[in-house]
Amino acid sequence: MRQFHAPGRVNLIGDHIDYMGGTVLPMAIDRGTDLWARPRSDRLIVAESDNFPEAGRIVAEVDADPPRPEWDWVNYLVAVASVFRRRGFEVPGVDVRVRGSIPNGAGLSSSASIELAMAVALNAFTGAVVTAAEMALECQRAENSLGVACGIMDQMSIACGRQGQALVIDCQTLQVRTVAFPDDLAVVVANTNHRRELSDSAYNQRREACEQAEQLLGRRLVDIDKDESTDALSSLPASLRPRARHVVTEQARVIAFERALAGGDRDALGALMRASHESLRDDFEVTGPALDAMVEAAWAAPGVVGARMTGAGFGGCTVNLVEPDSVDEFEASVKARYAAVTGLTPDFYGVRSADGAHEVVA
Ligand code: GLA
Repeated sequence: MRQFHAPGRVNLIGDHIDYMGGTVLPMAIDRGTDLWARPRSDRLIVAESDNFPEAGRIVAEVDADPPRPEWDWVNYLVAVASVFRRRGFEVPGVDVRVRGSIPNGAGLSSSASIELAMAVALNAFTGAVVTAAEMALECQRAENSLGVACGIMDQMSIACGRQGQALVIDCQTLQVRTVAFPDDLAVVVANTNHRRELSDSAYNQRREACEQAEQLLGRRLVDIDKDESTDALSSLPASLRPRARHVVTEQARVIAFERALAGGDRDALGALMRASHESLRDDFEVTGPALDAMVEAAWAAPGVVGARMTGAGFGGCTVNLVEPDSVDEFEASVKARYAAVTGLTPDFYGVRSADGAHEVVA
């Protein structure tokens, strides 16, 4: 079998603006999906996951249109096969084994990671020369076909990751810049372990609200200067105004964050992350008590540089920039405060930037 690897991702700043054509600032991480695969002579996808041993071997059809409930997680593989097929590539049946190190449902893009691992495998087997951005688009299409109207950030971060770098992704043009991630900052992802509820429908509703605001204004939200936003957004109905304001201000924060990273301005990094969380909490309303308790604990903890929710929200994880020498103290302090408020025990993952999806050549 040939081995392929796709990272997960953590978004440092710029949430809920990718689907509005905004610029986001994530990084690919050193937790991800290993996928071993070989072509078969029939039209089946025969897959097993070390993470779901109880599910056993799942046999799906490469020519089918997903999702089918009995195919469970393998629907991601079938969805990617299906978008490759529609592009005109001759996709073979495949034997697949998968092992992932990304906690599921935590907001670190385990599904996009599986999709991109499958996409690089199919790229290799079909001889398709699909670029990283095209692969990301195919995988976004695959994910959309499974019911979430997600943007392109996760798939692009996973396709284009670079060790040592954070990514600045323009989700309109799909151009990617890199910005060196400082060696003297630790990235700690904290899992609230609070189950995400109604996240798909609420996600799709937020996106619709932003699209409606753009239609009413007749211009792109990410093009509005934050200093003119009060006037520019004043004609919107009160229900849409805060959603639109989040998109406008978050976009400005991403650009300022890139500058602060490059210039090593830690105070600015912290202030921007805090403002981003507050905007996602108050204007976009995608945080909830568990995420709010987690960042409040982090803001008060020793060694913190910055903390915010990351990803879609509604539960899941926060991302924290921490002084490397203080990571243990930071985690102990956050854990105690968070548990006292919520009664939940968090998990912490120290992560580092990593390369994008690729074949692992021995
Ligand atoms: C999820 C989606 C992304 C993005 C984030 C929020 O991760 O898959 O496209 O919209 O939420 O920033």
